[in-house]
Amino acid sequence: MLRQADNDMLTQVGEGTPMGNLLRRFWMPALLEEEVSEPDGPPVRVRILGEDLVAFKDTNGDVGIVDAYCPHRRAGMFYGRNEECGLRCVYHGWKFDKEGNCTDMPSEPEQTNFKHKVTIKSYPAKIMGGAVWIYMGPAELKPELPNLEWAQLSKKQSVVTKRLQECNWAQALEGGIDSSHISYLHRKLEDLEPLPDEPELDEDGNEKFINYSAVDRHPVFFIDDTSYGQRISARRNAKPGEYYWRITQFMVPFHTCIPPQMLSGRDSDGLCYAGHAWVPIDDHNTWTWSFNCNPTREFTPKEEKMYHPRTGMWGPIDENYKPLAHKGNEYLIDRSVQRDDNYTGILGIPNQDAAVQESMGLICDRTNERLGTSDKGIIAFRKRLLKMAKDLEKCIEPPEATSPDIYNIRSATYIADADQSIDEGSDWLTKVE
Ligand code: FES
Ligand SMILES: [Fe+2]
Repeated sequence: MLRQADNDMLTQVGEGTPMGNLLRRFWMPALLEEEVSEPDGPPVRVRILGEDLVAFKDTNGDVGIVDAYCPHRRAGMFYGRNEECGLRCVYHGWKFDKEGNCTDMPSEPEQTNFKHKVTIKSYPAKIMGGAVWIYMGPAELKPELPNLEWAQLSKKQSVVTKRLQECNWAQALEGGIDSSHISYLHRKLEDLEPLPDEPELDEDGNEKFINYSAVDRHPVFFIDDTSYGQRISARRNAKPGEYYWRITQFMVPFHTCIPPQMLSGRDSDGLCYAGHAWVPIDDHNTWTWSFNCNPTREFTPKEEKMYHPRTGMWGPIDENYKPLAHKGNEYLIDRSVQRDDNYTGILGIPNQDAAVQESMGLICDRTNERLGTSDKGIIAFRKRLLKMAKDLEKCIEPPEATSPDIYNIRSATYIADADQSIDEGSDWLTKVE
């Protein structure tokens, strides 16, 4: 439960708000690279942290992100002409480069130097890992881009996509660090089974892999505050004398790595893993960014299909990145599927997540919650972000924003002897060299 004032602080991201100021200290993925793929191609609308902007790739291939409204008489820059290293407003022809300088003002007499006095609001933008990143904070504090592993890998090893989520960013993020819900929300009914007495064998005579998340639905959580955010470790019972661990990473302000899905073996070394970033469009809408990557090898054709940005596991989405199953059609819930097949009657993990997260309302009323022990990670997230926002109000800058290498971390899944510490079991799996 939060006080109303803290809930407001956590969820409001507009210009001048404490959380808005904090998020503006970090580079954020603003749009997919494919949205501005062509130099001098059509400009694209971007709304982020409640600000309306327009992105364009200029003649040199650099991306500019400027105010959606022309500083002259406020015409929409979306209709602009993207030509010769700048975006020209079509109302009276004023032209701006990616830094926001006015480079041409044909409607004014040549001898005036008015154009040198006019700028359009602009933000630095950089391409990394298939996304265009934006920095909206004070120019003198502009940091390096964060060293997130998925964003450093080739396109054959990493894929990123985004989908619209119709709720506040914080409740969407809280779903991502809520490791206990996978035993319920995402469960197939057939998985709700007790641990077999004898190991079951597959057709080759090998012991069948047991999904302990389905068997032990009462995980014990361990939350460690770290330089990058939080390590959230969920421990479940495995065979006698062993535990099954899932390590989720939360990196401030809104990145996560989800534990890989093990289908055999004892640990996730070399497996694909996934994760998210929740970037506020405004207080009521969020871009849920999702990635899949494998740091050790290229994707197989089967994985490429599974991770396809529009039709794969985070989809399906339409041409505007809106999910086909959404609030307006009740996420295509099928009650007979809910009765006979899966827990929700909704198909697709991201649709199941969106349904419950959006069902809380546009901004979850956290003054009315009853949190349990499985919500430890969520409580720690709120505390960390609120402290960072409050510190910034006291002019204490977030050290994480200027420490790109703290993002060199990944998630893990493994089975370990019961007496092994979390550090011993997980450090070698989660460290990115
Ligand atoms: S409104 Fe843009 S040039 Fe006049
Ligand atoms: Fe989920």
